[in-house]
Amino acid sequence: MCGIVGYVGPKPMKGVLLSGLRRLEYRGYDSAGIAVEQDDKLLLVKVTGKIHELEQRLAGVDMEGSAGIAHTRWATHGEPNDANAHPHTGCNDRIALVHNGIIENYQALRTLLLERGHHFSTKTDTEVLAHLIEEYLEKDEECPLDDAVRLALQEVDGTFGVVVIDHNNPGQLVVARRGSPIVLGVGENENFVGSDSAAFAEHTRDIIYLNDDEIATITASDYTVKTLQDEVCNPIVEEITWELDRIEKGGFDHFMLKEIHEQPQTVEDAMRGRVHPDLCEVKLGGLEEVHDILVSAERIIFTACGTSWHACLVARRLIEDFVRIPVEVEYASEFRYSRPVFNKGTVLFAVSQSGETADTLAALRLAKDEGIPVLGVVNSVGSTIARETDAGVYLHAGPEIGVASTKAFTSQVTVLSQIALLMGRLNGRLSKKRCEGILHEIVRLPGKIRSILDDTGSISEIAEVFGRVNNALYLGRGYNFPVALEGALKLKEISYIHAEGYPAAEMKHGPIALIDDDMPVVVLAPGDQIYPKVISNIEEIRARKGRILVIATEGNETIRDLADWVIFVPKTLDCFYPLLTVIPLQLLSYYVAVARGCDVDQPRNLAKSVTVE
Ligand code: M6R
Repeated sequence: MCGIVGYVGPKPMKGVLLSGLRRLEYRGYDSAGIAVEQDDKLLLVKVTGKIHELEQRLAGVDMEGSAGIAHTRWATHGEPNDANAHPHTGCNDRIALVHNGIIENYQALRTLLLERGHHFSTKTDTEVLAHLIEEYLEKDEECPLDDAVRLALQEVDGTFGVVVIDHNNPGQLVVARRGSPIVLGVGENENFVGSDSAAFAEHTRDIIYLNDDEIATITASDYTVKTLQDEVCNPIVEEITWELDRIEKGGFDHFMLKEIHEQPQTVEDAMRGRVHPDLCEVKLGGLEEVHDILVSAERIIFTACGTSWHACLVARRLIEDFVRIPVEVEYASEFRYSRPVFNKGTVLFAVSQSGETADTLAALRLAKDEGIPVLGVVNSVGSTIARETDAGVYLHAGPEIGVASTKAFTSQVTVLSQIALLMGRLNGRLSKKRCEGILHEIVRLPGKIRSILDDTGSISEIAEVFGRVNNALYLGRGYNFPVALEGALKLKEISYIHAEGYPAAEMKHGPIALIDDDMPVVVLAPGDQIYPKVISNIEEIRARKGRILVIATEGNETIRDLADWVIFVPKTLDCFYPLLTVIPLQLLSYYVAVARGCDVDQPRNLAKSVTVE
């Protein structure tokens, strides 16, 4: 939530900051701004709207100082307008700062600052921090910028990723973090800051993940990292693990479409070097050290949000089937404020694409504080959840830029399947023979996904019809109930059509009242064990004149008699159908959104990485 960029160095400042902002626009896009220290002054420009509005405003403006900061916002406090956009300044415009996070005690601080004569020009929580820092600098002319930032941060409650610039300290940025991600980019005679490394990946591959409660001072030639208690740290310089083409559209109209089409590759990457059908073995390097915990696990809790939560629902069935231990799936936002009962043998998995979701992070910290082993299934390498879990498995799907999650879901299900298989073999409840059969099938899935993607013609035609409705129902059972939820989420978040996902048999307990000609129903009916029951549910809809799109298994010609439209997926094992049936639903929502003229990659009100609760 919110994208932050900072740069100190000799390159054209405006260009570096704007290209960084464009890379981070997926994190928030309601307003944007930039501040550059130039000739001992701060130049500040802020606009409502997306980055291209800022670019237009800056056309022809000279902004070539030696240090600069920029921000793309997802509003929390104060509506999106020019004033509330970041960077924010104090009364005297000496410093400017960009912030991601929430200052929870901002009301109290604002009252105190008003009493001390400060005046405010925005409705944001962030502005208090600018006033506090400026006050420390002005109280003591000798006060170094990092000390002023440190002292001011001691007064705030809440979360922050913050970058500060001061025209009295040219060529320098001070950066601090608690709860909101910050990465430093280390270059040759230049240094960078970003909310994630995409902000500067084209300039340097060397990065430092700032930890919570750390503060860094960067100049073009140097950087120092300390704790907020002023102890010197020895940061580790790591390398960006993904290639630059992963954050380019690569000829596709949208990131979402590109990411949908990447799935044969990303699903394969999620099992590369891990799945060995001939040896009947799953090797997950990240979990090797915790095999003893997995063997003795008596209960699993999954916690996640949104699409990742749907992947956990699939994992529940996988683990209950292969490992035969009880599994709970918890919304992280609910779990973090509950009083969960943890007993011996409980293991918690936090599942997250970004690895920065505030609620998921809080949920895992709750379990960790209770001494429960916490494991992660995360895409973003080096992210906070990845670092705070005891062990875990990366998805290796590469950056996901489209706000609607697609490839992360299929990679999560692929990795969670492997975890279930590994645990089942470790505790002996999954036979070698059954495991062998499953492993021989899992490696065929990338090819099966590819075959669905090779024939998408009918999906765009069906999308024309769905594009004209206001409501849709998604039904599935067994392994495909979570896919119904995921299909409905995809449709609502990018096309703004109201959609509900339901277990198909629950329909007659209420939602069936909604069915009429205006509300199409998507039914997931692959040829799995529950198929005959799903057919009965389809008949119930037909009897009420509902229009039906069925996702069925290739070769099932009789289904055509029961449906208005059919999309076929290849045959697979019951447990792997979610990896196939979700693909047409992703494409359907994409084409519906395009047909309705929606902004597919940056849907209204949303942001990719939800770093506030
Ligand atoms: O990064 P995470 O996987 O933790 O994110 C969780 C949700 O915010 C995310 O899946 C969200 O629901 C997406 N917009 C779904 O497309």
